[in-house]
Amino acid sequence: MTRHALDLTINGESHQLMIEPHWSLLHVLRGELGMTGTKENCLEAECGVCTVLLDGKAVNSCILLAEQCRGRSIVTIEGLGDPEHLHPLQAAFIKHGAVQCGYCIPGMIMTAKSFLDERRGHVPSEAEVREALSGTLCRCTGYQKIVDAVIAAARQRNSWPEEARRS
Ligand code: FES
Ligand code: FES
Repeated sequence: MTRHALDLTINGESHQLMIEPHWSLLHVLRGELGMTGTKENCLEAECGVCTVLLDGKAVNSCILLAEQCRGRSIVTIEGLGDPEHLHPLQAAFIKHGAVQCGYCIPGMIMTAKSFLDERRGHVPSEAEVREALSGTLCRCTGYQKIVDAVIAAARQRNSWPEEARRS
């Protein structure tokens, strides 16, 4: 199939690619750029493990064409923090024991980031967090520790570093 040029901005960096028209953003991230922090599972917007931020909003990258992301800002889990500089949400997940196998965690954290950014400092209730995360499935944790981690991070949001609040 004929490929065409696409320039994507991912985690603040420009990536020039030659893509096939049907490629999803998830395929480009994992298959073309080796950014495997974003996970792959159902490929039909059912599980949430492929969630990234597109212009600050959580989206399922498995059902988004890469072409639809032209000129927009994409943030993946690799852009949120690293082992030396964890994002406050990542630190809260570790502190609260919210990570078991870890497969769902990038999607959980990106979803939680989008949700807390929308709330702009308002600490959500447990029910609100559960609703916000309801599109992301976890087979390991029973969700309670994940919910606890998100609420704990939300309570600290005013003291997050400025870059951690950016999308
Ligand atoms: S892999 Fe995208 S929602 Fe499941
Ligand atoms: S920690 Fe294993 S699927 Fe969520």
